[in-house]
Amino acid sequence: MSGDPNSTVLGVVLLVRHGDRQIIYQDSDTYTASTKLLTPLGNAQEVQLGGLLRQLYFNESSPSHIQNMNTGLFNDSQVLMVADAGDLGGVVYDSAISLTQGLWPNTTAWNTTLANGTTVVGPLGGYQYIPIQSVETSNDISLQGFFDCNTFNDAVSAFYTTPEFQQKANETQAFLNELLPYLDGHPATLEDMFDVFDYMNVNNIHNANFSKTLPPTFLAQARDLANWHEYNTYTSAQLDGIGNIAGRTVVPSLITGFTRIVNASDPLSFMVEELSYKPYLSLFNMTGVAAANSSLAGIVNYASVVALEVRQPSSGGEPVLRFNFKNGSDIFRTYSVLGSTGDVPLSTFINTLAPSAVNTTTEWCGVCGNSQDRGCGELAQASAEAKPHQRISPVGAGFLGAGLTLAVALMAFGVLAFLGVLSLGRPQRRRASKRTEKGSSDGGSA
Ligand SMILES: *[C@@H]1O[C@H](CO)[C@@H](O)[C@H](O)[C@H]1NC(C)=O
Ligand SMILES: *[C@@H]1O[C@H](CO)[C@@H](O)[C@H](O)[C@H]1NC(C)=O
Ligand SMILES: *[C@@H]1O[C@H](CO)[C@@H](O)[C@H](O)[C@H]1NC(C)=O
Repeated sequence: MSGDPNSTVLGVVLLVRHGDRQIIYQDSDTYTASTKLLTPLGNAQEVQLGGLLRQLYFNESSPSHIQNMNTGLFNDSQVLMVADAGDLGGVVYDSAISLTQGLWPNTTAWNTTLANGTTVVGPLGGYQYIPIQSVETSNDISLQGFFDCNTFNDAVSAFYTTPEFQQKANETQAFLNELLPYLDGHPATLEDMFDVFDYMNVNNIHNANFSKTLPPTFLAQARDLANWHEYNTYTSAQLDGIGNIAGRTVVPSLITGFTRIVNASDPLSFMVEELSYKPYLSLFNMTGVAAANSSLAGIVNYASVVALEVRQPSSGGEPVLRFNFKNGSDIFRTYSVLGSTGDVPLSTFINTLAPSAVNTTTEWCGVCGNSQDRGCGELAQASAEAKPHQRISPVGAGFLGAGLTLAVALMAFGVLAFLGVLSLGRPQRRRASKRTEKGSSDGGSA
């Protein structure tokens, strides 16, 4: 593809998948996970990726150097780091921490000279502590749009009853039966295909006996089937179809990132969202990159990254977007988006995706048919309480009048603020990860 080689990078929005992880299963009849852990290999993959991104974007001699980006110490005002703290426990959050260690390595420049003349370098050789916003499933739908989404779960069940699925299941049953001896009692069905592949993949990486005995083609075959299953699950024929929910909830943050990057008075130029693999499937479908490259219609490897570069063409004019993708340890490749060739005007990209975006929890509750979970129950209750109170007599109501309305509104506001619903889009900052184990409703666990 051809893009203006002399354009300047104004900023970049990065979507990074977590690194290598292990899942310990509770029992062998299902794939219910008990523990999910980022491994030392996963740490290493993310640190390495961070170092590579540093070379690419923070080094003044790199052609992709971000204009105005600090090349030295971490600068809080230029960077936004966000990590999914959902069903994978600390795996994604800890991956983000590792990534920052590659992006802003320890340096003796992280020091301070005291009043008495002594210079103190930060601990661990000048380790830089980078704030990362955690996105919790309980109060923020943005990075786990598929979770507890009833209409999405219905669509997945409906997919399983289609002739296309049935045919694939029939075609593959013989192969799946051959896998059984390697699954330690876990089931092998097309419905469970992600877990089947994941179990094999994790063991193939970490278990010497397993990788020695597994017939050579089995893992690739299982991966193909898992790719087929996941792509059909997390995509939709329509941009705003429910299958794309994992991407549609991410879209608002991408648009916010791009808008802030092109705003000359906003210093933000480097934004990272650390994720599970699911949103990539939807976003590859929604941006048309999978349609143009069938290899992208599948599960991205650990520590993969999509780099959405906002560039200023050398000829002037409006900013453009360039879509780069690096599949795990592979090199960066540039892909054409929205059926175009070359860079696409940023406004075209935004205008195409914005109508499918799910911008708020309220919208999500409607789209997902959920009135209980993830803040939907509190929102429903608050909106019911904000309406005139039924049990107060007309006289009482007249007496209380506007004062009551205000009190109810304040109460509703207080409930929302208390529950963290109002923190939507501004998740709390924290530096240590809280491990909230939560089973994924569809079994797949990224
Ligand atoms: C200066 O203050 C620091 C911190 O209190 C202390 O560790 C150091 O020994 C002091 N240096 C001198 C020369 O007094
Ligand atoms: C998105 O995926 C669906 C299958 O779920 C497919 O029908 C559609 O053509 C894909 N759209 C694009 C633009 O690739
Ligand atoms: C990523 O690479 C793996 C091989 O390592 C391949 O099987 C997979 O299809 C690729 N996925 C994407 C989305 O490019």
